[in-house]
Amino acid sequence: MRILTGLQPSGKLHVGNYFGAMEPAVRLQDEGEAFYFIADYHAMTSSQDPVALRENVRELAVDFLACGLDPARAVFFRQSAVPAVNELAWLLSTVCPMSLLAKCHSYKDKTAQGIAANHALFAYPVLMAADILLYDSNKVPVGKDQKQHLEVTRDLAMKFNDVYGAGTVVIPDPIIREDTAVVVGLDGRKMSKSYGNTLPIFGEEKPLKKLIMKITTDSTPVEAAKPTDGSTILALYKLFASPSDFAAMVKAHEQGGVGYGDFKKQLADAYWDFFAPMRVRRAEILADPAFIDRVLAEGAMRAREEASKVLERVRRAVGLL
Ligand code: TYM
Repeated sequence: MRILTGLQPSGKLHVGNYFGAMEPAVRLQDEGEAFYFIADYHAMTSSQDPVALRENVRELAVDFLACGLDPARAVFFRQSAVPAVNELAWLLSTVCPMSLLAKCHSYKDKTAQGIAANHALFAYPVLMAADILLYDSNKVPVGKDQKQHLEVTRDLAMKFNDVYGAGTVVIPDPIIREDTAVVVGLDGRKMSKSYGNTLPIFGEEKPLKKLIMKITTDSTPVEAAKPTDGSTILALYKLFASPSDFAAMVKAHEQGGVGYGDFKKQLADAYWDFFAPMRVRRAEILADPAFIDRVLAEGAMRAREEASKVLERVRRAVGLL
């Protein structure tokens, strides 16, 4: 079984990225051949800043490794280290109806906000399909916001096989864990960089804990029972706390007598403790800067090898060979 996922280097990784994609990806390393990559081409659809791109790629690499990606078990590489992905994207785009892309959320959201979308943003799902199909991926762990992109990938793969013959490309399945499909942000909406409501995985203790104190709550007085349905504090606490600690906080909500400030402090401590081992690993990785270069160079080599096999099969099927 081949497992693949990608993350955009578009700023600090957050708790939504962790539970939606990174944690499942790390767990799946033992269950098949894992291919994980940094989607640097994709990040350029929304920001064109060479200095920031270089920094963000490096930071993402450090942070993903700190969170448990094991380069001995997973192939870890930059998307742009395998330019063949652009060729496959082109081939897929020849069977991709414009209407399929026009209904994609990422494009529709930007244009609805009045942002002039570029061609790359429009074509984003085709490149993503190429990312997945180039490595004969079977399983793709992602958060729910990527579900539509996976549907486009499957549509394109089936269409491609219809035109060029069964087995030309492998049809992938998404893995979307129900309980962490949508991690909520500090304001109760989906955690997302574009909403400015994220809780980063790494950073300084004081400012990060302060972010948690800013979580939006209602004005229920301290002594009164607090609603548990739709509670941002509880939704986040569930990710970090043991089942018994979580049950205790639910009970304290129902009984009343504890203020939101105290619940937030408990959440902040649970969050900070949860990522403690990752912070230790991160410090070790940062102490050896050449390690990242080695890992990404080795990953690029292995990814290129695999990609060239698949691309040759596809080129033959379409008549380029
Ligand atoms: P990106 O960089 O926006 O997000 C990376 C991963 O984090 C998940 N995620 C979340 N999951 C749960 N709750 C949230 N609040 C939350 N926010 C983000 C995303 O679902 C994603 O799994 N298009 C992709 C990158 C990509 C890719 C691929 C992924 C490019 N090619 C091929 C898989 C396969 C993206 O923008 O993810």
